[in-house]
Amino acid sequence: MTRIARTAATGGELDPAFLAWSSSFAIDRRLLPQDCQGSIAHVEGLRRAGLVSAEEADALVAALAAMPGAVEAGTVVLPDDEEDVHMAVESQLGRTLGAVAGKLHTGRSRNDQVATDLKLWAKQALESIERGIDRVLEAASRWCDAHGEIAMPAYTHRQVAIPVLSRLWIGGALQEPLRRDRRLLLVLADELAESPLGAGAIAGTTLPIDAAQTASALGFAHGPRNPIDAVGSRDHGLTLVFACARIGMHLARFSADVVELSSDGLVKLGGAIAGGSSMMPHKRNPDLFELVRGAAALRHGELTALLGLMQGLGSGYHRDLQHDKALLFSAVDGVVGCLEMIALGLGHFELVEDACREALIEGDAVATDLCEALVAGGMPFRDAYRRIGALVNATRTAGRRLATLDAADLEREGLPATLVEHLDPVRAAQRRSR
Ligand code: ARG
Repeated sequence: MTRIARTAATGGELDPAFLAWSSSFAIDRRLLPQDCQGSIAHVEGLRRAGLVSAEEADALVAALAAMPGAVEAGTVVLPDDEEDVHMAVESQLGRTLGAVAGKLHTGRSRNDQVATDLKLWAKQALESIERGIDRVLEAASRWCDAHGEIAMPAYTHRQVAIPVLSRLWIGGALQEPLRRDRRLLLVLADELAESPLGAGAIAGTTLPIDAAQTASALGFAHGPRNPIDAVGSRDHGLTLVFACARIGMHLARFSADVVELSSDGLVKLGGAIAGGSSMMPHKRNPDLFELVRGAAALRHGELTALLGLMQGLGSGYHRDLQHDKALLFSAVDGVVGCLEMIALGLGHFELVEDACREALIEGDAVATDLCEALVAGGMPFRDAYRRIGALVNATRTAGRRLATLDAADLEREGLPATLVEHLDPVRAAQRRSR
């Protein structure tokens, strides 16, 4: 037998076409650093248990520690005809160290190994998502410093609703949702606290390897609580993909706002992030925000696929789980990229103050403020609501807008002249944002 995971009982060699099709190496080679890190902790566990000698442990640790750098530098090329990165590493150790490589897998299975690698990777993924969110929040607060005091419409049903200052819009469309997402990631950190290493294939090992020590060497809080769960659960993966999907959805909704505001001429995009048309010379398209909006759909797909992958499985490890990695990698790469682009995009768009004011006037955005001014003067709300509705109707019928009325116009409609103080949408926005 030439393959690592083949014995007389396995039934001969794998069909090369099946091996090539079923191998995860092209995708999970990305886990090489985590795989070597996990294996080093495992070798130290074997050393403490007296299952490898000091010289053997030293040789294995040195080779494992050097491998990711050597592969990255191109001085070592891992065998690409193995089932996965775990076997490629063991096979590579066999090439360089000989028989001692055969001791590495003592008391371990690829089932606890891959689960450990993935959790180590997920910890880094979590940190890069947190960094990405922090960069967007920093960029958003810089945006507010530069453009946050502009009066603009808040929309309901995509119709002009009420005047607000632009910092309220960015806060509601971007900052608050992302702050919540950052807190959601705390749940993930908690789910990543358990090390699967030591769970073996499904029921641990009879050998005296201390899983708590390997766990702490890898930065986990504790070893596997239950080996069946430890090898079979991908709950942390689901939480991670859900977080990516929710962040992606938040970025997409913010992007939809920017696309719509730019299409209405309320937002001006910088050339650094705007797309051109290959035919129409006048175009400046919101490509960055459209791509981010569209990317959210990919995150939904990954979340649905991972849930679907898990739901038909019994407990413990099944080969189906091999498909988890492509989904997780794509979700995390996708959301980290979108966060980077939104942080960049925030430096390259501004509101067009005059167009915002024009939209507020055109949309009669002060109507609710007028209503509340009447209420403050003692009128019951429903009466005020109808009076202002009638005023809007009469004004529009005359081809005018509320903001163009004066005290005499108001008095002609039987309304107090003092309402004129509430006709300016910019002042209305400022009043609401105090
Ligand atoms: N490539 C496999 C995966 O990604 C590694 C675990 C294989 N385990 C097994 N019992 N065949 O899930």
